[in-house]
Parts: sequence; C-alpha cells; structure tokens
Amino acid sequence: MTATWPTSRFAGTSTCSANSLPEQQDAIIGRRRDGARLDLEGVQPGHEPTDAPNSLPPSSHVAKSGPRGRHDDNQIFRRDLPYMETTPDGKLEVGLQFCSFRATLDQFDVVFNDWCLESNFPIQGAGPDALLDPARGLTRVLRAGLFFVPPYQEGGLVAAVFAQPMAERKQPVVG
Ligand code: HEM
Repeated sequence: MTATWPTSRFAGTSTCSANSLPEQQDAIIGRRRDGARLDLEGVQPGHEPTDAPNSLPPSSHVAKSGPRGRHDDNQIFRRDLPYMETTPDGKLEVGLQFCSFRATLDQFDVVFNDWCLESNFPIQGAGPDALLDPARGLTRVLRAGLFFVPPYQEGGLVAAVFAQPMAERKQPVVG
C-alpha cells in the first residue's frame, strides 16, 4: 500500500498565546498541559477507554480531530515537530510543523475538511475547530507539502534502488 505523508507548517499568532488564559487554551485543545483529556478526570493520557463518552467542548481540537467509536477506521499517524526561527526581517516565529502518515490522502481530507473545518461535526452547531479556524486567527498555514511513500516489496522498484550496493551506483557528475 502506498502511504501519503502530508506535512504543513502552522505559525502561531500573537493572539494565540498572549490574549488567552491557560484554561481558555486548554478548552481550545480539549486537553490539559499534562496531556489529560479535560472530560476524563484522573485518566492518564494514553490509557483512555476507547468507548469513553465524549463531553469535551465540541469545538475543541481533540473533539473535532479525534472522534472515537464509529470513526475509528479513519486513522492517521502523527509526529509533529515544534519549530522556532527568525524571519528575514528579524522577527521570531514559532509554530508547529505538522507531519503525518496515512494510507490514503482521503484520510487527511476527512480529518481536516470534513471534521475540523465542518461546523456541524461532531454535533450540529459545534462550530469549526477552535485551534484551526481561520476566522479565529490563532494559527495560520504557511505552507504544505504532500509526499508519496512507495511500499517496500521484494523485487519492487524501491527494493531495486536501495538494494544496489553503493559502489555499483551511478556516481553524480560534479563540475
Ligand atoms: C497549529 C496546528 C496544530 C496544533 C498546534 C495541534 C496541536 C494538537 C494538540 C496539542 C493535540 C493534543 C495532544 C495530542 O493528542 O497529541 C493534538 C491532537 C491531535 N491533532 Fe493536532 N494540532 C495542529 C494541527 C492539526 C492538524 C492540521 C490535524 C489534522 C488535520 C491535527 C490532527 C490531530 C489529531 C488527529 C489529534 C489527536 C486527537 C485525539 O484523538 O486525542 N492537528 N493536536
């Protein structure tokens, strides 16, 4: 199976950190800073029952992007990285390099468009994802990329490229 690897860079805005209290920020995410879900008191992150009823704020990022139960077949594997850099005009910019693998691009589309940005998901009137909603301006997408990751199969194209000993590979022409 070919995996797709969407990666995008989100910049935090000044509104994101300066103008909201810690509890408001937790409500936007749906988790506290220690990773615990807001609606599951005393349950360690990573030990949450899969059938736990969800009573998160409906527009929180976790309620929108990570619905449980009948949506479990849409799966993505995330490995995000924070970044911090100075822009050419000397400003400090911080944000998140969102990076994820999935079996098909459709699965990203479902999470981002059908769930996060769709106002009536997971319930009627939930509103768009509080973290990603362009109208709230907490984050903004700077750029995005999509990579296809071909499967490794014995005798397949990828195997042929990587199995060839270094010495036998065509050397690049320099100069
Ligand atoms: C500014 C960009 C983003 C930030 C700061 C952010 C932040 C977070 C945080 C703090 C969590 C909770 C901790 C965790 O479960 O790892 C989370 C969970 C998650 N995020 Fe994001 N995220 C961003 C963008 C996205 C995007 C673009 C997607 C996909 C379209 C996404 C999908 C998810 C998913 C699926 C979860 C797991 C929810 C759960 O089941 O608990 N995130 N994100």
